[in-house]
Amino acid sequence: MSLKGIILAGGLGTRLNPLTKITNKHLLPVYSKPMIYYPLQTLVDAGIEDIMIVTGGRNAGDFLRLLGNGSDFGLKHINYTYQEGEGGIADALKLAEHFAGDDKVVVILGDNIIEKSIKKHVDEFRKQHKGAKILLKKVSDPQRFGVAEFKDGKIASIAEKPKKPRSDYAVTGIYMYDSQVFHIAKTLKPSKRGELEITDVNNVYIRKHELTYGILDGWWTDSGTFDSLLRANNLVAKKERSS
Ligand code: G1P
Repeated sequence: MSLKGIILAGGLGTRLNPLTKITNKHLLPVYSKPMIYYPLQTLVDAGIEDIMIVTGGRNAGDFLRLLGNGSDFGLKHINYTYQEGEGGIADALKLAEHFAGDDKVVVILGDNIIEKSIKKHVDEFRKQHKGAKILLKKVSDPQRFGVAEFKDGKIASIAEKPKKPRSDYAVTGIYMYDSQVFHIAKTLKPSKRGELEITDVNNVYIRKHELTYGILDGWWTDSGTFDSLLRANNLVAKKERSS
C-alpha cells in the first residue's frame, strides 16, 4: 500500500494581516523561497511522490503557476484541490479523501518548517499496522500549540492551546493517518474558534489506543505569526548559509 502526502495551504492567515490581505500565507517569502516550498521538500525528502495541495481563497491559481507539476522538486505531477470557506485543518483534510482512497497519508501544515528529515518516522509509520502517528517537539511556549499530556510513556490526551500546558511537548503540524481519518473528520463538531480541530482527530485515535508518536530531530517552527515568521526566516537563513 502506498503512502500519499497532503499539504494544507488554505486559511485566511489573519494573524499575519496585512501581509495576507493580498496573497495566501503559504506564498509569502521565508528567506530565499516561498513558504510552501519547505513542507513540499519535507515530503519529497521523506520519499513521498504522490502529493496533494489543499488551498483556497483568491490565490489558489498562484500555487499552480508557482509549483506546476513539481518538476523543481523532481516530481512528475502535483494534485491540487480547492477549499471553499475556512473550516479549519480537519475540514481541509476531508477534501483529500478521494485522493487518498484506502492509502495512508502524511499530512503537513503548509506553514511548518523543519531542519531535518522526517524519513525515519515516515518509514516507521509505513510499517505501523493501523492508526496514526504524530511528531512532537519540546518548546518553550507550549500554550501556542496542541500539547501532549503523557501517562506511562504514552500520550494520554492532547490539549489545544492550553492556558496551563501539562508538558513542554508541542504537537507539530506533521501528522500520519490511516484512512479512518476521513471518517473521524466527519464526526467532529466545530471548536470555540469555529474550526474542525486536528487535535480532536488525534484525540479520537488516542481513545482507540491507535496513536503513536515520534520526537522531531532538529529545529521546528510554524510561521503563521509575525514572530514565528521572523524566526522561520532566521532559522532557514542560518541553515542555508552553513550548507
Ligand atoms: C495548529 C494546530 C496545533 C498545532 C499547530 C502546529 O494550530 O491546531 O495543534 O500545534 O498547528 O503548527 P494553528 O496554527 O491552526 O493555530
